Amino acid sequence: MKTISLPQSLLVFLFLCTCTADPLGEFCNNDSNIRSSSQISANIEKLLVELVSKAAITGYIATSYGKDQDTVYGMAQCRGDLSSKDCSNCIQDAAKQIRQRCSNQFDARIWYDYCFLRYNNRSFTGKVDTSFGIYYFNVENVTDPTTFNKELGDLMDKIRSQAVLPKNQGLGRGRTVLSPFVTLYALVQCTRDLSQLDCAQCLAIAVGNFPNFCNSRKGCRVLYTSCYVRYELYPFSPLDLNKTIGVTSKAVVVYP
Ligand SMILES: *[C@@H]1O[C@H](CO)[C@@H](O)[C@H](O)[C@H]1NC(C)=O
Ligand SMILES: *[C@@H]1O[C@H](CO)[C@@H](O)[C@H](O)[C@H]1NC(C)=O
Ligand SMILES: *[C@@H]1O[C@H](CO)[C@@H](O)[C@H](O)[C@H]1NC(C)=O
Ligand SMILES: *[C@@H]1O[C@H](CO)[C@@H](O)[C@H](O)[C@H]1NC(C)=O
Repeated sequence: MKTISLPQSLLVFLFLCTCTADPLGEFCNNDSNIRSSSQISANIEKLLVELVSKAAITGYIATSYGKDQDTVYGMAQCRGDLSSKDCSNCIQDAAKQIRQRCSNQFDARIWYDYCFLRYNNRSFTGKVDTSFGIYYFNVENVTDPTTFNKELGDLMDKIRSQAVLPKNQGLGRGRTVLSPFVTLYALVQCTRDLSQLDCAQCLAIAVGNFPNFCNSRKGCRVLYTSCYVRYELYPFSPLDLNKTIGVTSKAVVVYP
């Protein structure tokens, strides 16, 4: 075994660093292994090129690549409160990381705070899917759960009804001033392929799971294939803030 001195190893690291951000989570369907003879890997690469080049134009793209057995369907979407530059950076990271993390699967999904990307050999658009979930919650709890949960519920109702309006493209966001020093910020986002009814359903399931995963926490995120829900006691949307404050969070991954 060859050992290398510290300065050298640092140099090697810097040199090799592709510097893509880590995702919040991914789902690699282990029942979707790619056969070595298949054309599908090459098609996934081609699909990703298209997702990366076009997603940031409107913040959403659903497309496919290839033919017959080797067709692969893909979707990429950014949160609706982002600049196209932030969107583009996120989709680029997602495309790189999904191939590294799910290198041998044709059914793969990857979640970032700013974007979501997936592909499969079956068409999936217009189908609501909450089978796989990732939850991030603040380790701290609020001091007055009764009032907080009431205000949170009211704010969620309000922004969910925004999200289902076609003109809002699946996005709802808002805030509630809880006291002179404390403001609650929340954002919900459905994937844009969903009908009003399916968007409402996805968000209802996410919010319905608050008691299980977000119970009186100071902040929480629910990441599903079809929708995203987040609330915090600090601004986290680029539209609300100048700088996001880091907090300690724990993740829970729920398999179907
Ligand atoms: C797929 O298999 C890998 C390796 O065994 C495992 O780490 C991962 O959790 C599995 N993914 C799912 C969704 O079951
Ligand atoms: C997707 O791939 C699986 C496994 O190779 C295959 O059984 C299935 O028919 C494919 N689906 C489509 C729509 O081609
Ligand atoms: C928050 O409440 C949960 C139970 O609801 C508890 O397990 C956890 O330790 C609390 N966290 C803190 C930081 O007190
Ligand atoms: C950024 O901070 C300034 C000064 O604190 C504030 O006036 C402004 O509203 C903030 N910008 C946004 C987008 O919230």
